[in-house]
Amino acid sequence: PREVLAIVGESGSGKSVAMLAVMGLLPNTATVKADRMAFDGIDLLALSPSERRKIVGKDISMIFQEPIASLNPCFTA
Ligand SMILES: Nc1ncnc2c1ncn2[C@@H]1O[C@H](COP(=O)(O)OP(=O)(O)O)[C@@H](O)[C@H]1O
Ligand SMILES: [Mg+2]
Repeated sequence: PREVLAIVGESGSGKSVAMLAVMGLLPNTATVKADRMAFDGIDLLALSPSERRKIVGKDISMIFQEPIASLNPCFTA
């Protein structure tokens, strides 16, 4: 809380893929490994897909590249 973390790296260095892994949005052909992947004290890797979907989109969200296509001023958060 009250902190912003920025991950900066050159294009193609894996920033988007890393965040897709946190979101659980990589295809099931991807292998996701982490010593720890927790959000708000919840171990994301221990959740079932349906439990995870309750958090992703609500408490964790992602603005994809080309934000003009992702953000619609007609809708609030
Ligand atoms: N952890 C990874 N393991 C294997 N391939 C990866 C990994 N991270 C990124 N890549 C490959 O590199 C490409 C570019 O990564 P991406 O996350 O889109 O970079 P960025 O968002 O930093 O520009 C991906 O499409 C994927 O092919
Ligand atoms: Mg990217």
